[in-house]
Amino acid sequence: MKTPIRTFLAGSIIIIALSGVGTHAAATTIDVYKSSTCKCCAKWVDHMRAHGFTVNTHDVGNKEARERAGISTTLGSCHTALVDGYAIEGHVPAQDVKRFLKERPRAIGLAVPGMPHGSPGMEGARSDPYNVLLIDKQGDTTVYSRHLPSDPKDSVMKLK
Ligand code: CU
Ligand code: CU
Repeated sequence: MKTPIRTFLAGSIIIIALSGVGTHAAATTIDVYKSSTCKCCAKWVDHMRAHGFTVNTHDVGNKEARERAGISTTLGSCHTALVDGYAIEGHVPAQDVKRFLKERPRAIGLAVPGMPHGSPGMEGARSDPYNVLLIDKQGDTTVYSRHLPSDPKDSVMKLK
């Protein structure tokens, strides 16, 4: 009767070992376009670095980078990041960026329009719910993940 348990344990160890493979891959480089005076942008850059990204900052504002990426101003925020051919607009949590880069959908990228209180880089006394939007090739959006103020840091409700 011990055999099934052993098999189960062995299987679990293999799964744990395999799930670690991605995290040991070379750091993903991300280019962030922002203004030099943007405090919350710098905090978002710190957040991305803390989650293993290599970040190059370009203090030239993000208007041009956002336009070039095909993201409308209505979806706009304070910074635009470019990574692996995708654009990430605003205070998108690193966890969502990682999941997105694993899934690699046909899309322009992800956006958190505006600057919601409580999003990464926008931490403070106040914390509001906010959505991360997926921007498809046509520029249309769907909700990629929802973030609730009661959630522990970076936890997400996956929609798919
Ligand atoms: Cu900001
Ligand atoms: Cu910013």
